[in-house]
Amino acid sequence: MSNQDNILVLPQTNQLLSLYTIIRDKATSRSDFIFYSDRIIRLLVEEGLNQLPVTPRTVQTATGVNFDGVTFQGKICGVSIMRAGESMEQGLRDCCRSVRIGKILIQRDEETALPKLFYDKLPEDIADRYVFLLDPMLATGGSAAMAVEVLMSRNVPQERILFLNLVASPEGITLFNKKYPKVKIITGVVDQGLDDNKYISPGLGDFGDRYYCV
Ligand code: URA
Repeated sequence: MSNQDNILVLPQTNQLLSLYTIIRDKATSRSDFIFYSDRIIRLLVEEGLNQLPVTPRTVQTATGVNFDGVTFQGKICGVSIMRAGESMEQGLRDCCRSVRIGKILIQRDEETALPKLFYDKLPEDIADRYVFLLDPMLATGGSAAMAVEVLMSRNVPQERILFLNLVASPEGITLFNKKYPKVKIITGVVDQGLDDNKYISPGLGDFGDRYYCV
């Protein structure tokens, strides 16, 4: 059963649109691609943090008056799906100093053409944390689904997983949300669909290549 409440798309402001216009442009240099992608990643991380529960906390201000505020409840960690997801780690670190970050490597099995888990390294106490799952492109949803299975096998409840991505396909969102209705998807934009090569269209090409290669 799907749960639309757990699909969050960033507000489509002109500012956000201008950032996407730059990173979608195939003529954009690598350094600009990194700079403007990082700005979007920052917005995604901030939105993810917005979703976490808080408890009341009162502090005394420099004027000697009390201020009734809040503080975050619980611990978080990041888990990046290698390699493209690693591009989102710094954005998380910029907001959460010394945050623990785990990694999952999933690649296509050349024999079966299905995603296969090759490697994972996760914080020992991941079951006690909120997990920011990082992968910039939600295309078919196959890798993300496998990553969620890995997290669930480590006793992370779906409710504590927030899946952050820059561009999503409607197909990927539907499949993922049906399978894991309690996982929150936080995306910057939902594109038209997948092309014959399972790339997101109009998309921006291969995110990892554009971020890491010249
Ligand atoms: N991964 C990418 O980098 N781009 C896509 O369009 C789909 C998956």
